[in-house]
Amino acid sequence: MPDNRPQDGPPQTAVRRTAPPQAAPPQAAAPPGTPPQDAPPPAHLVSRLRAAGCVFAEDEARLLLAAASGPAELDRLTDRRVAGRPLEQVLGRAEFCGLQIAVEPGVFVPRRRSEFLVREAAAAARAAGEAAAAATARRLVVLDLCCGSGAVGAAVAAAVPAAELYAADVDPAAGRCARRNVEPAGGAVYEGDLYAALPAALRGRVDVLVANAPYVPTAEIPFLPPEARDHEPLTALDGGADGLGVQRRVIAEAPRWLSPGGVLLVETSARQEPGTRAAVAAAGLTAHTATCPDLVATVVTGRGGRSPHPPAARASAPGAA
Ligand SMILES: C[S@@+](CC[C@H](N)C(=O)[O-])C[C@H]1O[C@@H](n2cnc3c(N)ncnc32)[C@H](O)[C@@H]1O
Repeated sequence: MPDNRPQDGPPQTAVRRTAPPQAAPPQAAAPPGTPPQDAPPPAHLVSRLRAAGCVFAEDEARLLLAAASGPAELDRLTDRRVAGRPLEQVLGRAEFCGLQIAVEPGVFVPRRRSEFLVREAAAAARAAGEAAAAATARRLVVLDLCCGSGAVGAAVAAAVPAAELYAADVDPAAGRCARRNVEPAGGAVYEGDLYAALPAALRGRVDVLVANAPYVPTAEIPFLPPEARDHEPLTALDGGADGLGVQRRVIAEAPRWLSPGGVLLVETSARQEPGTRAAVAAAGLTAHTATCPDLVATVVTGRGGRSPHPPAARASAPGAA
């Protein structure tokens, strides 16, 4: 199976197991009858969650308790969770790279494995930022394409605060959600099909182009866990016959948007890595693969594309031959 789905074993809630929501209401504001944070959650709540298949029922119960403003809301949230909605969509947020990311119903829940994409992108951004600053004193430009909630772009911007952040997605629900995460970081969100959503002025200016596009092969969608299959949009999961349909389009057009020396980073699966690499090479970029066994994560990087500037512009550059 490809990796673009809830991880096997522990569910996606693993991130929050050790990090309860920071937005938990203070004890003094808790409604009557709400147990203190360090008390065990009510047994009936835990058993309801466990009966619904929540492996980490106690942790989830604590999170639901902390998120609910009172017993009626707790019931509503629990009903949604028991009906199979991803915990992050029920809580309205996910922890990602140490950030609290707003996640709305019908929007892809950022996966832990994508934290590796952020790490790789942040490292590339820091290197590119130094080069850009030395050469032109301009701000580094980061683009998160297929941004979903905007988690990846927001996390890269948090790691490289001087960056100018752009994000885009075809799904209006994702665009709305991404605005909540990207705009506070000073970024801008666009809606539309891949690069068609973007202002033309961004062409040739993107220093770090990061993309976690859908990469599940169509025939494997029915085998995804119900949390993903039933509660995340097909557009966020379905990557076409071999899973690489959207990715290939992202990669093929990337050289036109990258700055000279800009870097493309694409999340993929170990099994699909050869296809992703081939697409990067076909776009005229030099491919490099990085993996993180702990997160079961694979990222293919592409660098050094054909210059987006026409030959005349290059010839007039200082020092050009
Ligand atoms: C796997 S989700 C990843 C979301 C986000 N990057 C993350 O890691 O949490 C893929 C996203 O790609 C978007 N998408 C799919 N096809 C697209 C297209 N043609 N143009 C722009 N976005 C697209 C989906 O709407 C979805 O939000």
